[in-house]
Amino acid sequence: MRAETAMEIMIEFDGRPVKAQEGHTIGEALLATGIATVRKTRKGEERGVYCAMGVCYECRAIVNGTPNTRTCMTPVTQGCQVMTQEDARIEVNDEKS
Ligand code: FES
Repeated sequence: MRAETAMEIMIEFDGRPVKAQEGHTIGEALLATGIATVRKTRKGEERGVYCAMGVCYECRAIVNGTPNTRTCMTPVTQGCQVMTQEDARIEVNDEKS
């Protein structure tokens, strides 16, 4: 049996092109290229994928202009734009930030 090869697509992270595999989440794609930080708390602490199952909300980033998007739960799409979320610059409803 032959495994199917996932199609390679491009996404953007903080304005830079990043290769991704179709079917992966944004968090997976970024981690695969060594990008571990997708959010900075109000105190400036770096955050990224932690639980990888949608529970902790540590992996929130701005995806196609929408803040607080969980990158571990959001599939990559061709050309999607991901930006580091800086909680000090946006309105967030999270006491843990
Ligand atoms: S890593 Fe925990 S919700 Fe995404």
